Amino acid sequence: MANVTRRNFIKLAASLGATLAWRSANVRAAGIQWRERREFYPQGVASADPHPDSVILWTRRPPVSDSLAKKLTVEIAEDSAFRKIVAVSKADLSPESDWTCRILAAGLKPRHEYWYRFTDEHGFGSRVGRTLTAPAYRDSQTVNFAFVSCQNMQQGAANAYRRMIWEDEQKAAGARLSFVLHLGDFVYEVVWYPEDRPKGYYSRSLRDLVRYESGEKIRDFHVPTTVEDYRALYRAYLLDPDLQDARARWPFVCMWDNHEFSWKGWQSQQNFDGVRPAQTRKVAANQAWFEYQPARVTRTNMFEDRFQTPAVTNVAIRDFDEHGLGLEPGNLKAINSLKLFRSFRYGQNVDLILTDNRSFRSEPVVDQPAFAAFQTGQFPFVVSQDVVEVLDAGRSYQGGQPPEVIRFNGRELPNPRRNSPSQTILGAAQKSWFLSQLRNSKAIWKLWGNSVGMLDWRLDFQNLPDDVGVKWPTTGYAMLSGDDWSGYRNERAEILEFVRRQGISGFASIAGDRHSFQAGTLAESLAPKSFRPVGVEFVTGSISAPGLFEAAEYNVTGSNPVRAIYVYQPAADSRPQAAINFSLMHGVRASLALQKTGDVQQALAQRNAELAPHLSFMDVGGHGYSVVRAGADELEVEFVCIPRPLQRSERVDGGPLRYRVAHRVSRWQNGAAPSLERQVIEGTLPLVV
Ligand SMILES: [Fe+2]
Repeated sequence: MANVTRRNFIKLAASLGATLAWRSANVRAAGIQWRERREFYPQGVASADPHPDSVILWTRRPPVSDSLAKKLTVEIAEDSAFRKIVAVSKADLSPESDWTCRILAAGLKPRHEYWYRFTDEHGFGSRVGRTLTAPAYRDSQTVNFAFVSCQNMQQGAANAYRRMIWEDEQKAAGARLSFVLHLGDFVYEVVWYPEDRPKGYYSRSLRDLVRYESGEKIRDFHVPTTVEDYRALYRAYLLDPDLQDARARWPFVCMWDNHEFSWKGWQSQQNFDGVRPAQTRKVAANQAWFEYQPARVTRTNMFEDRFQTPAVTNVAIRDFDEHGLGLEPGNLKAINSLKLFRSFRYGQNVDLILTDNRSFRSEPVVDQPAFAAFQTGQFPFVVSQDVVEVLDAGRSYQGGQPPEVIRFNGRELPNPRRNSPSQTILGAAQKSWFLSQLRNSKAIWKLWGNSVGMLDWRLDFQNLPDDVGVKWPTTGYAMLSGDDWSGYRNERAEILEFVRRQGISGFASIAGDRHSFQAGTLAESLAPKSFRPVGVEFVTGSISAPGLFEAAEYNVTGSNPVRAIYVYQPAADSRPQAAINFSLMHGVRASLALQKTGDVQQALAQRNAELAPHLSFMDVGGHGYSVVRAGADELEVEFVCIPRPLQRSERVDGGPLRYRVAHRVSRWQNGAAPSLERQVIEGTLPLVV
């Protein structure tokens, strides 16, 4: 039996591009002398994608000075002193994988702590890493994990990781985090060299983090063009001591978002002042991701230990199928060269389902040239919900009755998508996989690792009083972020309808990308239509990338007639506060009244009760991380918010805390509606009322 299992793991390891390290009862000592020499392992160590019986280990041992290594020995132990070594294996190093190394440690015990280290043939050792396996399928203990997104190391510090480590160290063993879910923007490929913006970026000074050997300069920033450029980005990010310590402490489960490939990337295309084909860059981005993010992902050629680079050229996509998939052969090769969507089981409580929201999606309607006619330029960051709804649904709008024209700013404009198929984020194949995962899940909580958010965050600019001096162009709401699920409303409704019809309870979206902390309930529609929540969503603030409030502080200046909707400043010299948080929960009239009276209660008297029945929390200025505790009866998500991380904190706790707030939802029965309860644990909330 053990041999059959072992043989299966040998196959699995090969399919993951990893070498197997098999636990056995009588492991001999490795017969090598480990002497820690971290300078030979500049990107540290990492572990990833824990299962009850296995986990992936990673390091990188490049040539340093004149010391070249070709082989690594990995040792896995039950103690940090490596007295009880349970598995040993050897792996080759080569420049084809940029000297990175993946090991599948298998035959392990469930919900167990292990330690690992690498040693080269000269006896130079990596730092020691710690990892944890997943609980057994029948395990009913509460599952604790953190989730994060959006770490811009060029524009900010990773203090959030330092705090996460410090807090975890204070906890009793049973309450510690089991893993870190990273929802993407692990790297930001758009880089401003410090000399490109001598005054910095918003309140940030720019760090000279990486220089691309073959990068392309666009306007005042640089983007990678080759695999070597993308590798350079990961190498630079992983030098960060706080990120490196976090990777050495917990297994990570990673899904990419847009910036691992391209800012406005979709399928294998990018958009800088117009869409351009970027098949070669997509392949390069995938290869670097595969090399630097250990994960249970499959590639075109599964049984090679290195990434097989498909031959593609940058050709515009002319033909799309019914589901928005670009049929150009190089596009298909590029997006299928690495498959990231996958799922994990954590005992009886949690199924974690990760989707790739970038590789199969249609181009966002708000970025399409035809959308230019539907923008006014007077209202920062927002688009019209009514217009997006019509364009997104295309010919399926209102049961196949799309309007010929759309009323906008007093004019009737032709509907440019009345004959087009509706938009998609997941693409047909991934969507059917995702829905079957949801339907077949036996876990109490179906947690969707969803790199982009679903909750509508809207502003009622249609309610602006006339004396403000600008007029909203439609009778409906304004909305933020047309390139996440708010802009793909038809498919969002389809998924939520599926959850309702199938009677799936315990459905929770765990999201990133929005650079803000948000909590709320998910429903197919909002007031003035019917509002029936079928799930919940939690969005984590960014680790460091600037959020919308910071952008508003700098871009929505004092002379802008709608500044009070975004920024609250009681007096000209007082500290700007996030009026946008207040506006998104209570409406524009409430924020205007706040600016006028300085009194929250008087402002709330002006609130629009129809605006946000779904929202429990909205802070678009917060940074930090979030912690999930998934128990048998309750799901709790804690937002840990830190000050804007302009500089690295030297403190052991990563610096001060701004606030800690928890939201809880009780397990609900099929067909019942979930509801969230908020508890402020410490600190002061920034205009979240
Ligand atoms: Fe981001």
